[in-house]
Amino acid sequence: MTDLLTPVLSANWGDEKSWDIAAYTASGGYAAIDKAFAMTPDEVTNLVKDAGLRGRGGAGFPTGMKWSFVPKDNPNPKYLVVNGDESEPGTCKDIPLLMASPHTLVEGMIIASYAIGCHTAFVYIRGEVLHVIRRMRHAVEQAYAAGHLGKNIHGSGYDLDIIVHAGAGAYICGEETALLDSLEGRRGQPRLRPPFPAVAGLYASPTVINNVESIASVPCIVANGAAWFSSMGTEKSKGMTIYSLSGHVARPGQFEAPLGITLRELLDLSGGIRAGHELKFWTPGGSSTPILTGEHLDVPLDYEGMASVGSMLGTKALQIFDETVSVVRTTLRWVEFYKHESCGKCTPCREGSWWLVQLLKKFEDGVAEEGDVDKLLDVCDNIGGKSFCALADGAVACVTSAVRHFRPEFEAGYHTPAYELFPYGRSALFEVAEGSHA
Ligand SMILES: Cc1cc2nc3c(=O)[nH]c(=O)nc-3n(C[C@H](O)[C@H](O)[C@H](O)COP(=O)(O)O)c2cc1C
Ligand code: SF4
Repeated sequence: MTDLLTPVLSANWGDEKSWDIAAYTASGGYAAIDKAFAMTPDEVTNLVKDAGLRGRGGAGFPTGMKWSFVPKDNPNPKYLVVNGDESEPGTCKDIPLLMASPHTLVEGMIIASYAIGCHTAFVYIRGEVLHVIRRMRHAVEQAYAAGHLGKNIHGSGYDLDIIVHAGAGAYICGEETALLDSLEGRRGQPRLRPPFPAVAGLYASPTVINNVESIASVPCIVANGAAWFSSMGTEKSKGMTIYSLSGHVARPGQFEAPLGITLRELLDLSGGIRAGHELKFWTPGGSSTPILTGEHLDVPLDYEGMASVGSMLGTKALQIFDETVSVVRTTLRWVEFYKHESCGKCTPCREGSWWLVQLLKKFEDGVAEEGDVDKLLDVCDNIGGKSFCALADGAVACVTSAVRHFRPEFEAGYHTPAYELFPYGRSALFEVAEGSHA
């Protein structure tokens, strides 16, 4: 099955000191910059459009199109902001990429900045991952010393500075407008749109915000061409991408493959579900994407395939749960996360996520009352689509999809605690104290 893997972004991860500029340059790194400088900025944008690259941060918006929204007649500076907040539960692709090959991102930022006419670019990295922040800062220093950043890069007359900014550890700061507020030094809360960041973003100036993996995918497109990139993937979801598998799989980790691979194929590559167990449910792209079951093993993992079964590709974070896991307990843990991370700006999300936790605790303890499943769905209905940003939609997606697929398990919460039906120690990957419900 290994021919299904297409390592491009991860091709150099196993190299000796892959994060160092010497190793990166030896494997052809920083050559795509000169190719880009030989083109006009618009030609670079069109190349990315033709390749069909879609944002890898969750929503799948076409990257080249986003760049083309930056108004050319606006006299303000233009900014590129790279989103490295990576906090979606289960998501683990940007951080490994930044650890193993930070120069791929630096090179992508130079090309993207050139395309949109930006001379100061930012990378916003999740605050808890200090080792990643240090690695990225070191890579930027090396790129300055080698003449890839600063004034008159490669004699092209083009100047660029990159600033590596450490976040303070809030999931909401991954939402692009909250990230901008945080970058400006304010409390990170989503902004009202319009105006969209392309018109009035950072410091009220035209701003492109892209995910780490999106921008890291740019150098290989410039180096190998749009046709090469779009030869991988499916009709509307082009190229290769990094899938992260975690949970009850034999060999969890990152798997780089063309968009449209299926979970069945990824499970073959990762050694399958842990020995002696079977798949119960899974998320295609983090906990904000509706859960799926064994029925969906052969659905293409691309934007269209996941939408066709009522879910979303999201961040391609496949969290795998076997038959030992309580859906009620998992849902409660996820909703506790959203309640904790709700920024509090709007009432449905701030209050509703608190109520969801209270209700789900009753199901977990087996003391829910007849009708509480409908009450749970009713609370969800008052949050989803009625809140200020997509955090709240993610918080209800895990609940509604869990009830859709496993309603009897919730109804069992009218009389039996989840930890009696699914003793928690059985699903633990690490040893758990006898009788622990933690
Ligand atoms: C609550 C929330 C958290 C998010 N967290 C991230 C994140 O950590 N990284 C990311 O790239 N996008 C995240 N996003 C999506 C961003 O708002 C934005 O769509 C993305 O950075 C755009 O980049 P792309 O077009 O390259 O995908 C989040 C969105 C929401 C609503
Ligand atoms: S939906 Fe939640 S996270 Fe988003 S603005 Fe409202 S309170 Fe904040």
